[in-house]
Amino acid sequence: MAELSKKNEPAASVDATPNVTGVEVVETGSETAAIEALQAPVDRGEPILQVRNLVKHFPLTQGILFKKQVGAVKAVDGISFDLYQGETLGIVGESGCGKSTVAKLLMRLETATAGEIFYKGQDITKLSGRALKAVRRNIQMVFQDPYTSLNPRMTVGDIIGETFDIHPEVAPKGDRRRRVQELLDVVGLNPEYINRYPHQFSGGQRQRIGIARGLALNPEIIICDEPVSALDVSVQAQVINLMEKLQDEFNLSYVFIAHDLSIVRHISDRVGVMYLGKMAEIGTDEQIYDHPTHPYTQALLSAVPVPDPEARENRERIILTGDVPSPANPPSGCRFRTRCWKAQDKCAQEVPLLAVPERFKGADTPAAHESACHFAEEKDVVHAA
Ligand SMILES: Nc1ncnc2c1ncn2[C@@H]1O[C@H](COP(=O)(O)OP(=O)(O)OP(=O)(O)O)[C@@H](O)[C@H]1O
Ligand code: SF4
Ligand SMILES: [Mg+2]
Repeated sequence: MAELSKKNEPAASVDATPNVTGVEVVETGSETAAIEALQAPVDRGEPILQVRNLVKHFPLTQGILFKKQVGAVKAVDGISFDLYQGETLGIVGESGCGKSTVAKLLMRLETATAGEIFYKGQDITKLSGRALKAVRRNIQMVFQDPYTSLNPRMTVGDIIGETFDIHPEVAPKGDRRRRVQELLDVVGLNPEYINRYPHQFSGGQRQRIGIARGLALNPEIIICDEPVSALDVSVQAQVINLMEKLQDEFNLSYVFIAHDLSIVRHISDRVGVMYLGKMAEIGTDEQIYDHPTHPYTQALLSAVPVPDPEARENRERIILTGDVPSPANPPSGCRFRTRCWKAQDKCAQEVPLLAVPERFKGADTPAAHESACHFAEEKDVVHAA
């Protein structure tokens, strides 16, 4: 795992209040100046991506001819976090909590309903033209399913090489074959396989092709949406090891989305836990896994299988009752309150902000990290390391 040195360790400074906080906005007069600013290097441990109050509501409509909006699916509803240069930020949460929507917003594959995404100080939700193209080159994605994300009718050479059609400045026409072979070599595939089709590879090899395609434009950030979930366990480890090696080699920053808590812990420097379109808790892997203060994180961790029979016997399993509410009609106040064993009146009335809890502020304890709970406190949860 890429180790961030102590002095570079990111300050816990995520804020969910409706202000752009902690962001050094870069003012650029022209498109050329904007592109220059986007190409400037960022020091290791400095924020490279700053997300503030990001919202994505999908309209719910009724009627066939005259479509009328009758509501909205609040897939992402006011999320803030930072991604630091060279780090891996893991994002976990149950199915439907909005992880992939966050990924698509960061890639500008979806348009945000509100909020900002600052990349090197510029709000990419407002960029267009050449400046947006420059951002797209630097933020790439690796998808979950290597079976469906690769066109079965194209050779590997064409799949990886097609990115150069949009960005010929990275590999001019005469140099593409060599560059694709170099990329195959980098991800541990035989460069001679360049003319093969996706079905001629195994699942793990196909995900390596997906990673090679993600690397083709020399990006700074890779958004990985469940990159190993479709793979066998033994192959998962190989792909994770490859991703860690590439991160060190190319100084990449990863947003790593997954539902497997053990894998996320293994690869992440920091972890954000999402629930129903909101960030419930965020901190270093040690803070989140060994000192969680949000009841939802504690419940998630208590459900992780424990190999040690003694530890398994002694641990407290927190069984969450009730279904996840609909994101079209989330509960008032704290969204987790309908399933939380600690819920009180305040939880229905006030939305808890993502912040270091008052009781831990300034204290030298791993519990002093951001948690969106009115009654955040530590609880011993035995889980797999
Ligand atoms: N294009 C869309 N139109 C309407 N609703 C959508 C759209 N895309 C996502 N949603 C809804 O937004 C919510 C969040 O979806 P999203 O795919 O981001 O969840 P997820 O956390 O990635 O889930 P999973 O773990 O299953 O991949 C879900 O309720 C989903 O049905
Ligand atoms: S704010 Fe209330 S309902 Fe929400 S997690 Fe905390 S205790 Fe539970
Ligand atoms: Mg998803």
